[in-house]
Amino acid sequence: MLDKIKEISVYIHWPYCLKKCPYCDFNSHTSKQEINYKDWESAYKNEINIEQNNLGIKNVRSIFFGGGTPSLMPPNLIESIIRTLSKKWNITKNTEITVEANPSSVEVKNFKNLAASGVNRLSLGFQSLNDNSLKFLGRNHTAKDSLKALEIAKKQFQRVSFDLIYGLPSQTALSWELELKSAIELSGEHMSAYQLTIEKGTPFYTLHRAKKIILPSETVLLNLYRITDELLNNAKLKKYEVSNYAFKNSESIHNVRIWEGFEYCGIGPGAHGRIKVNNKWFATHKYSSPKIWLSNNLQNKTTLYKNEEINSIERAQEVLLTGLRLTKGIKINTLLSNTNTNNIDAFININNLEKFKKLGLIDMNNSVLKITNKGFPVLNAIINKLIL
Ligand SMILES: C[S@@+](CC[C@H](N)C(=O)[O-])C[C@H]1O[C@@H](n2cnc3c(N)ncnc32)[C@H](O)[C@@H]1O
Ligand code: SF4
Repeated sequence: MLDKIKEISVYIHWPYCLKKCPYCDFNSHTSKQEINYKDWESAYKNEINIEQNNLGIKNVRSIFFGGGTPSLMPPNLIESIIRTLSKKWNITKNTEITVEANPSSVEVKNFKNLAASGVNRLSLGFQSLNDNSLKFLGRNHTAKDSLKALEIAKKQFQRVSFDLIYGLPSQTALSWELELKSAIELSGEHMSAYQLTIEKGTPFYTLHRAKKIILPSETVLLNLYRITDELLNNAKLKKYEVSNYAFKNSESIHNVRIWEGFEYCGIGPGAHGRIKVNNKWFATHKYSSPKIWLSNNLQNKTTLYKNEEINSIERAQEVLLTGLRLTKGIKINTLLSNTNTNNIDAFININNLEKFKKLGLIDMNNSVLKITNKGFPVLNAIINKLIL
């Protein structure tokens, strides 16, 4: 039995992709030069050593390789990172180890070796099962590639999930329903369904402003969200977070722990962390530029762009913000004790809380605060008005 106090989650960021998708504002890049994997290996090792010396002995509950496209990392690099982590921290067979993967053939070739290196969960970026939508999203794979990748992934990994994006221009309730039904036929224990977000600074942002991309109306989007909930729910894929659905006990341990406010350490360019040192919370943020992160690291200069202590009120607000994404909501007492605060009115606007309760958007029962089904489609607006 792992000691809960000493449990940590680890996020590892790999910043490279084969192609930059026009809607994506993640810290992901295409590399013009050949990537020197030996340098990257040394850099990840250095950063892990620094974090481990700072944090002391820990039990690792989950590791998440995110990106970018971490399935493009050579499997022996992933293995080496896991091995380095396990030198000072405990990794057991219960440690959830996830890698995000694109369904292109380049990556599928790596699946067998990834599984052999200890990865036990794969999250595939399907985005759509419709080739026209994939073209619109600028993806370099087809629906057929996704099916092939899934077939191989299911053979290699204990747990497999895939991501879909909906709310595309001209998508109707009927076309989404048909696509989602095909997805359910293929799915296993977990699926993520994200509504397309137009992110500032992306090519989609420019096209949207120029009215060359017209999104479905709010009413259609709300309907698509309801259809997603209903169809997935009927298939026993229960919503556990605003965009994530899973069979019972098959939720992403890593993401749930972060939303619940547990400690996690971020390794790699742009990685965020929330760590506890001498009973104080710190927000860490590594340099986002892969070049700066790598060269600083290899010259033994700091890779920390930010390392700020966060006081108990700020931490309570952060945990409220992420905890309300979960359908199970958050326990007020846990929130207060984890953040050393005495009363929720220190970080919650009580007037607005009462208003949202009356409108049926928030539920507060037995000291658990949660968003209702009616509230989820307007989650961000609720959170903005709830936090002081
Ligand atoms: C950072 S990506 C990494 C996964 C992998 N590189 C891929 O693209 O398949 C994680 C997921 O975020 C989602 N995503 C990224 N940008 C988005 C956007 N603008 N709107 C909605 N979902 C988005 C996609 O579903 C994607 O699978
Ligand atoms: S969506 Fe995935 S593959 Fe596309 S640029 Fe972003 S991280 Fe890379």
